[in-house]
Amino acid sequence: MHDIIQQLEDKRAKARLGGGEKRIAAQHGKGKLTARERLELLLDEGTFEEWDMFVEHRCADFGMADNKIPGDGVVTGYGMINGRLVFVFSQDFTVFGGALSEAHAEKICKVMDQAMKVGAPVIGLNDSGGARIQEGVASLGGYAEVFQRNVLASGVVPQISMIMGPCAGGAVYSPAMTDFIFMVKDSSYMFVTGPEVVKTVTHEEVSAEELGGAGTHTTKSGVADLAFENDVDALLMLRRLFNYLPLNNREKPPVRRSDDPAERLDLSLDTLVPDNPNKPYDMKELIVKTVDDGDFFELQPDYAKNIVIGFGRMEGQTVGIVANQPLVLAGCLDIKSSIKAARFVRFCDAFNIPVLTFVDVPGFMPGTSQEYGGIIKHGAKLLYAYAECTVPKITVITRKAYGGAYDVMSSSTCAATSTSRGLMPRSR
Ligand code: HXC
Repeated sequence: MHDIIQQLEDKRAKARLGGGEKRIAAQHGKGKLTARERLELLLDEGTFEEWDMFVEHRCADFGMADNKIPGDGVVTGYGMINGRLVFVFSQDFTVFGGALSEAHAEKICKVMDQAMKVGAPVIGLNDSGGARIQEGVASLGGYAEVFQRNVLASGVVPQISMIMGPCAGGAVYSPAMTDFIFMVKDSSYMFVTGPEVVKTVTHEEVSAEELGGAGTHTTKSGVADLAFENDVDALLMLRRLFNYLPLNNREKPPVRRSDDPAERLDLSLDTLVPDNPNKPYDMKELIVKTVDDGDFFELQPDYAKNIVIGFGRMEGQTVGIVANQPLVLAGCLDIKSSIKAARFVRFCDAFNIPVLTFVDVPGFMPGTSQEYGGIIKHGAKLLYAYAECTVPKITVITRKAYGGAYDVMSSSTCAATSTSRGLMPRSR
């Protein structure tokens, strides 16, 4: 009996070592934490329950039969964030570059299935070179199973992806179908094909950072919602975001008691909005002064800056905030801002989060680039999102709402309009 327990302990120790000490040192050398260290930081202390620690791949080609590592490159299970249940998977780059095998996919699918069954979010810590090349189509089949679950879980439980290493191929499609994507600066990348393939096919020379680094995806493509300085910062911020969200689409978000009274007056709001409709002001200042404790969790702050989105709380309850930003493009609506806001409104609608909209919009951006880019269809996405949204919606027109943009910015709801001054519900 003692021998069996010892064997089990040895196997556990092997699984915990992943790809071995040399590869762990290399991971640390790049400023990255290991898959297990990341989970320790993300979850409340001592709450992680691991599943399938000894699962191995079933590939026999390319010498893989003799190259098995317990866990097969992904740590899965469940734990708590501030006492609330969450299902997690954390890919281990030290094991075959975190590449996804059929068995690796099965582990991820199992946590996703259970998350949907009990109604708890799924957080994926992604650090993966994509499909495991040695497994060929079996790996692609594994991805298809994961994608299917991403779709089934969409709007049922929140799905959050943290990109924490070089993610290529299939490793970026699954995050793309989740609700939020976060990245770590200088150590995470997302691309469908890497710089070498790009060079071969299109003859473009581009670095990994330029092609799919955090800067690119938070400013140019809009694929990522936020980028953080390092793994520690990223995981702590993820815990903070989690606190705004409900566990599933049948629950309400948690209420965080605040000492910030609802009737608090902020007289500076009466002068923040200039009388002259052509003069800009910072809508973010208005938002921060309106929400509880000035605590605003902004998403996509560096992409389509003419619209601001993010979470705040009012009387302790989570609200989704959408606001035109007069500081950028005069707050015009364009393709990028419409898509950005529409996706956010749909998330709030799915997860019982009321939407508060601050409107100061001169209209849609005119021009051939917008028309050729399909502003008609993309603008309609925002209109559609608001129109189908059944959570409480409050619209505050802080100064102006012209043309079609008036309709698109949540006009048909209980709009509290004010044409000249910044009149805040908070101070009235
Ligand atoms: C098997 C892989 C792997 C993969 C990396 N490794 N990616 N093993 N399958 N996809 C292994 C490497 O062989 C290496 O093993 C170890 O992981 C670390 O990789 P390095 O290349 O040394 O690391 P780095 O220089 O940091 O580069 C990371 C990387 C690069 C950018 C991810 O490895 C890379 O380009 N990999 C291939 C990416 C790719 O083409 N993926 C398939 C996409 S197709 P050793 O033993 O040397 O340590 C796909 C289709 C899905 O995903 C489509 C779904 C719709």
